[in-house]
Amino acid sequence: MICYLNGEFLPLAEAKIPVLDRGFIFGDGVYEVIPVYDRTPLRLDGHLARLQRSLDAIRIGNPNTASRWTELIRELIAQHESTDQSVYVHVTRGVAKRDHAFPKDLAPTVFMMSNPLSTPSAEQIERGVAAITGTDNRWYRCDIKSTALLANVLLRQLAIDAGAAETVLLRDGFLTEGSAANIFAVKGGVIRTPPKSHLILPGITYDFILELAAAGGLPYEQCDVSEGELRNVDELWLTSATREVLAITTLDGHPVGNGAPGPIFRRMHALYQAHKRPKKG
Ligand code: PDD
Repeated sequence: MICYLNGEFLPLAEAKIPVLDRGFIFGDGVYEVIPVYDRTPLRLDGHLARLQRSLDAIRIGNPNTASRWTELIRELIAQHESTDQSVYVHVTRGVAKRDHAFPKDLAPTVFMMSNPLSTPSAEQIERGVAAITGTDNRWYRCDIKSTALLANVLLRQLAIDAGAAETVLLRDGFLTEGSAANIFAVKGGVIRTPPKSHLILPGITYDFILELAAAGGLPYEQCDVSEGELRNVDELWLTSATREVLAITTLDGHPVGNGAPGPIFRRMHALYQAHKRPKKG
């Protein structure tokens, strides 16, 4: 498998970074996961804008212009057989003697790889998935797509250990997001999702879902959702680059609504499928 590291395309097994890379030592870096359909990245501009925002937030200069990123990502996609892929882009602050404070003007480490895109199975779409709730014990900059994902890793593992697919996070009695997804709830026909803030990742799929809702005439609100409301919704969905939109049909072992993916989920899933690929011709 071919990857990209610091200016070179090379086999993944041959890609090496120095042990003093601050990504390895401190998790001092940011990343993106970009879904690709028919060799075309979905919402690439949004992903590159979010990458810029994450880099700015942690004070790393962007090593590439948007047009250079676009070229490199297209080249990486061309190196792989699958037409549907998930491209992983990772930028760290670079290599330096271990010290929390960072030196100025380090050369960032740039790494990219691509894998065949693995979206939810037909059965998961048909039946939905189980989720559990967990306490959101992450930091106060969840809006930065940081590679320092220890809290997310542990929270996701709680779900796996419970035989579930995702942990839905609550902070101070309110829904934030999932361990690796944004969360949408439906009550009385209205789609509700927490507003963007430092407490959630501004998902590219989140934006896409809200645009599809607007275009499809589905009412929505970006508003706080309390734990009490969360436990009383008609439908619950998770969204991410790789899981698209997926219904959560049990929460902490209790059915969500009637325990099956709801009508608004079905509508949204169909809209998503209809719009994720580049238009032909
Ligand atoms: N994760 N919130 C968190 C904490 C996430 O890790 C992700 C995505 C999202 C959804 O963002 P988007 O719609 O842009 O994928 C929300 C990616 C897929 C990952 O870490 O693999």
